[in-house]
Amino acid sequence: EHRLILFQPSLMTEVRTCEEPCYAGVPMSTIVEKGMGIGDVISLLWFKRSLPRYCTQFIEICVMLCADHGPCVSGAHNTIVTARAGKDLVSSLVSGLLTIGPRFGGAVDDAARYFKDAYDRKLSPYEFVESMKKKGIRVPGIGHRIKRGDNRDKRVELLQLFARTHFPSTKYMEYAVEVEAYTLSKANNLVMNVDGAIGTLFLDLLAGSGMFTKQEIDEIVAIGYLNGLFVLARSIGLIGHTFDQKRLKQPLYRHPWEDVLYTK
Ligand code: ACO
Ligand code: LMR
Repeated sequence: EHRLILFQPSLMTEVRTCEEPCYAGVPMSTIVEKGMGIGDVISLLWFKRSLPRYCTQFIEICVMLCADHGPCVSGAHNTIVTARAGKDLVSSLVSGLLTIGPRFGGAVDDAARYFKDAYDRKLSPYEFVESMKKKGIRVPGIGHRIKRGDNRDKRVELLQLFARTHFPSTKYMEYAVEVEAYTLSKANNLVMNVDGAIGTLFLDLLAGSGMFTKQEIDEIVAIGYLNGLFVLARSIGLIGHTFDQKRLKQPLYRHPWEDVLYTK
């Protein structure tokens, strides 16, 4: 006999009560009655537990700040081109989402991995950055196309301010600030970016909240939960870009040929 095995505690609870759906054991009515938000729902569905208010607020701030960064970034560009080719919402959305990766928006998990490893091994910023250079790996969470040392990313500043005010410890992020000081001494574009801020601050959230064991933190970092925050957030903006193109009845996009360099 082949049986479908359900690992999701929420689904098991639902089967038990046969009344209303639950998220990690919390009935939907409780979620609504207690005025919980999307940060609570993410905590329940991704991390399988209720987190303190400052944690769920931090998750919500990440989602709000990463929702959009204008029409010119990789993801929005792909979505806009796809919408203008007459494709539907889901096609336009996934076309943009598919650009999320190691260079664009998808460096959050690697930032958490590499900064955690370097901090836990007590590497100095110099040792960390130079060892990455020797391996030919760009430091995830560092560098931006338009942000500079004298034109910082407001999103990073807002996340840092929130965490310094509400988190019990921001040791991983402060280490990233020291790394940034070193990378900025090499080149003005090597600022801490939003992926680096979220990656290191999420380490601080996991370690400082007292809600996760060391083994659970290692598992979350190894599996790679944190790019999910950017994917979720940017979906909001990409859906908006799709609607913009449809509402404005924009025609098929064709790139100006003089922008393209033909070479052998
Ligand atoms: N670590 C080390 N060196 C770097 C880094 C980095 N993270 N980023 C750029 N550099 C170096 C490059 O090696 C290059 O030097 P070189 O020409 O001697 O090799 C110099 O800085 C200029 O780099 P560019 O390639 O011009 O930078 P670009 O603007 O193309 O790249 C990018 C921007 C893709 C974000 C890059 O900095 C990077 O790969 N960062 C790591 C990945 C990352 O964090 N991505 C998330 C960005 S934020 C977001 O998408 C929401
Ligand atoms: C973004 O959030 O899309 C960016 O940081 C990337 C960019 O090129 O601005």
